[in-house]
Amino acid sequence: MLPFFKGQTVTKSYKTLFVCQQCGKESPKWLGHCSDCQGWNTFVETQVRTSRGGGTSPFPSQSPALELSQITVEDSPRLLPPSSEFNRVLGGGIVPGSLVLISGDPGIGKSTLLLQVSAGIAQQGKKVVYASGEESSYQTRMRADRLAIKGEGLYLLAQTDLEGIIQQMESIGPSLAVIDSIQTVYLRDLEGAPGSISQIRECTLRLMQWAKVSAVPLLVAGHVTKEGAIAGPKALEHIVDVVLYLEGESFSAYRLLRGIKNRFGSTNEVGIFEMGEHGLAEVENPSRVFLSQRSQQPVGSVVAATLEGTRPLLVEIQALTNVTSFGLPRRTANGIDLNRLQLIIAVLTKRAGLRLSNQDIIVNVVGGLKISEPAVDLAVALSVASSFSDREMDPNLIALGEIGLSGEVRAVSQPERRLVEAVRQGFTRCIGPQASLNSLTPPRGMETIAVNSLGEALRAALKSKSKPGM
Ligand code: TYD
Ligand code: MG
Repeated sequence: MLPFFKGQTVTKSYKTLFVCQQCGKESPKWLGHCSDCQGWNTFVETQVRTSRGGGTSPFPSQSPALELSQITVEDSPRLLPPSSEFNRVLGGGIVPGSLVLISGDPGIGKSTLLLQVSAGIAQQGKKVVYASGEESSYQTRMRADRLAIKGEGLYLLAQTDLEGIIQQMESIGPSLAVIDSIQTVYLRDLEGAPGSISQIRECTLRLMQWAKVSAVPLLVAGHVTKEGAIAGPKALEHIVDVVLYLEGESFSAYRLLRGIKNRFGSTNEVGIFEMGEHGLAEVENPSRVFLSQRSQQPVGSVVAATLEGTRPLLVEIQALTNVTSFGLPRRTANGIDLNRLQLIIAVLTKRAGLRLSNQDIIVNVVGGLKISEPAVDLAVALSVASSFSDREMDPNLIALGEIGLSGEVRAVSQPERRLVEAVRQGFTRCIGPQASLNSLTPPRGMETIAVNSLGEALRAALKSKSKPGM
């Protein structure tokens, strides 16, 4: 242990404040409405640690300034669980002394992932402590049986008292520790039930401090709900070193592990898993999986080439248009942003002359994926136009391009990577922005159709009709 950390762990100076349970905003008096997160009735009287003597930083309050060049970096190797998808998202394994927060909806598979990673490290002959406040050791054992984990070197701890957990971890001396979940642990001398924002925050700071002192990496699970209603992980993101989100739709078996913040690597990386009978399995060729059930005469279906981090991924975008039976037309977007869809519909109507104002429009990204990249705009537009005009699309065509308000098709980043993946999956034609396609040599077997405007794209992709729409 570094000498200046000694005796500095828990201080007992606390004060009473009102804290928003949604975003962590503090106020000296009770407020009905939170001006930060706009929540109503979210303030709860809470004890928080005062900044004096301990503070909110895991580092000592007095340490001399050091010249950057004088700081030596010890080459401590990262832990490498046997999951390339997990390591990819972390930027090459788990850094010693780091605190990694894995958040996601309840039931999405956080505990499963953490148990599998723990077992992977334990298999390498290293000790791992798995502290679960959510499930009894018996339940964890049953889960481990399902995952075919034997569990040598994996120490289960069904405890929620954080100081107790830390004591146990110190006596075991693990190479990795898991806390499942941050909402169930508590510090005894702090008021507030486990899961309240002050407990969550103080516990994370305590764990952060312990991780830095002991150089043991910690993986911490945290639940979030879709509305962010339950206090927690959001308010912790600035404290911890790495934030990963495990996401997916409950009806779909696919899970995406996404890096949101990473002090040791790039964010934007995505790991893709499939939840099966034996836990989470890595998906090595995601494009093939997401395209596997595609029809060969697709109407209202276009494949887009997106980039998830540095990884190209082909996804099928489907659209269905139908005359509105009464009242306002409905627009539904699954997997893309609804506002983005509204924009694309507006551009299709105004700039390409498609009469969509009396059409219900549903757009769906197949496989339960969520895509936030505007490079899928053109695929969305083409799928809507194809469904509306009842024209088949070329099944070997992929589309890329962002759509601007004046109907222009705008450049996308790294078109080469996307095209290479498209060829690998057997696609032979690509329609996309001139700005991206004209400056590159397409991979062998790929014909490119460069367009400037949405109108041009519609004419090129929906060939059999002289004028799109009607
Ligand atoms: P879990 O890891 O408990 O979720 P979290 O910790 O995020 O709340 O995952 C629970 C779901 O995963 C549950 O609905 C059952 C499913 N599951 C499988 O489909 N296969 C498995 O092998 C395991 C262990 C869980
Ligand atoms: Mg769990």
